[in-house]
Amino acid sequence: LQLSLLRQRIENEIDNFNKELSLQTDQLNQPIQYFLKIGGKRMRPILVLMANQVFSGNIEKAIKPALAIELFHNFTLMHDDIMDKASLRRGQSTVHTKWNENIAILCGDALMIESYRLLESCDDAIYKLVMKSFSKTASEVCIGQQLDMDFENSTNVSIEQYLEMIKLKTAVLLGCAMKIGAYTAHITDERANLIEQFAIALGVSFQIDDDILDCFGEEELVGKLKGGDIVANKKTLLMLLAIQSADNNTKAKIDALMNNQYEPTQKVGAMLEIYEQLEVRIKAEAYKNSYFESAKHALNQLQLPTEQYQLLLAFAESLMNRKF
Ligand code: IPE
Ligand code: IPE
Ligand code: MG
Ligand code: MG
Ligand code: MG
Repeated sequence: LQLSLLRQRIENEIDNFNKELSLQTDQLNQPIQYFLKIGGKRMRPILVLMANQVFSGNIEKAIKPALAIELFHNFTLMHDDIMDKASLRRGQSTVHTKWNENIAILCGDALMIESYRLLESCDDAIYKLVMKSFSKTASEVCIGQQLDMDFENSTNVSIEQYLEMIKLKTAVLLGCAMKIGAYTAHITDERANLIEQFAIALGVSFQIDDDILDCFGEEELVGKLKGGDIVANKKTLLMLLAIQSADNNTKAKIDALMNNQYEPTQKVGAMLEIYEQLEVRIKAEAYKNSYFESAKHALNQLQLPTEQYQLLLAFAESLMNRKF
C-alpha cells in the first residue's frame, strides 16, 4: 500500500504499454512513447489504485483501468498543448512542436482509443458502470476545454463560471479515476459517489494550484513556459481576481495588455506586477484551501479505517504542496 510501490507499478505498466505499442506506423508509435516517458506525476492512475486499495480491492483488477486513465490524460494534454500553443511540457518539447500538429492530433486520438480498449478488461459486473462514468467524464472534459477557449476571448467571466469550467476540464477526471477505482473493488454504492466527490473537490483545488504555478512557480520545476496562461489571455483565477479588484486605471492596463501585441516576456512581466500589487496570489490560495477543506469533508464522511484515511489524506496533502 506504499505510495512509491504504486507509482513504480504504474511506471512498469507504462513501459510495457510502450513496448507492446504497434500502431502499424512508427510515425504514431514514437511520439506516443516519447510523451509517456518524459515525466508526469501519474497522480490519476495512483488515485485509481488508491481507491481500489482503501476499499480492500484486488489491486490487479485496478491496474489496466489505472493505465487507461493515464493514457486518457495524456491524450487531453497532447490536444491541450495544440490549443494552448504550448511548446514545453514536463520540461521537454510538446508533440506538436517536436513533430507537427497532425501527428499530435492523431497520437492523441490513438491514446484515447487505447484507453477505451484497456477498460474492456473490466469484469462484466462493473463494465457498464465503468463505461458510463468514463464516457460522461470524457464528454465533460471536452465541454470544459471549449469553455476554457471561449473564455480567452471574454472579459466578463465570473468566478462561478471559472469554477464550473475547471471542474469540467480537470476535476471530473480525478473524480472518475477514484470512482472507477472503487468499482474495481466492487464498491458501487454511495461510497463510490463520496470518493468521487472527494476527488472532484481535490481536482478543483489542484487546477487552482496549476494556475498559480503557471505564473508563480519555478519554470524548471513546472516544466512549462512561465506565464503561458497570461500570454494566452486565459481567464485563470488570478486573472479574474485581478480584474475584480483593479481600479479603473489598472483595469485599463490589464485590457491594454490583453488586447495589444506585446513581446511575451514583457506582457508576462507587466501582468505579474499587477498581480503582485493586487495580491491575487493570496486570494487564489484561499480558494484553493477552501476546496481542499471540502475534499477533506467528503473524505471524513467515508469513515475509512485510520490507515486508509491517512494514506489518502497524505497523498492529497502532498499534491497541495507540490512544486510541479
Ligand atoms: C496537467 O496535469 C493538466 C492539468 C489538468 C492541470 P498534471 O499536472 O497532472 O500533469 P502531469 O501528468 O503530472 O505532467
Ligand atoms: C488542462 O488545463 C486541462 C486539460 C488538459 C484537460 P491547462 O491548460 O491549464 O493545463 P496545463 O497547464 O497546460 O498542464
Ligand atoms: Mg488548456
Ligand atoms: Mg495547457
Ligand atoms: Mg495550466
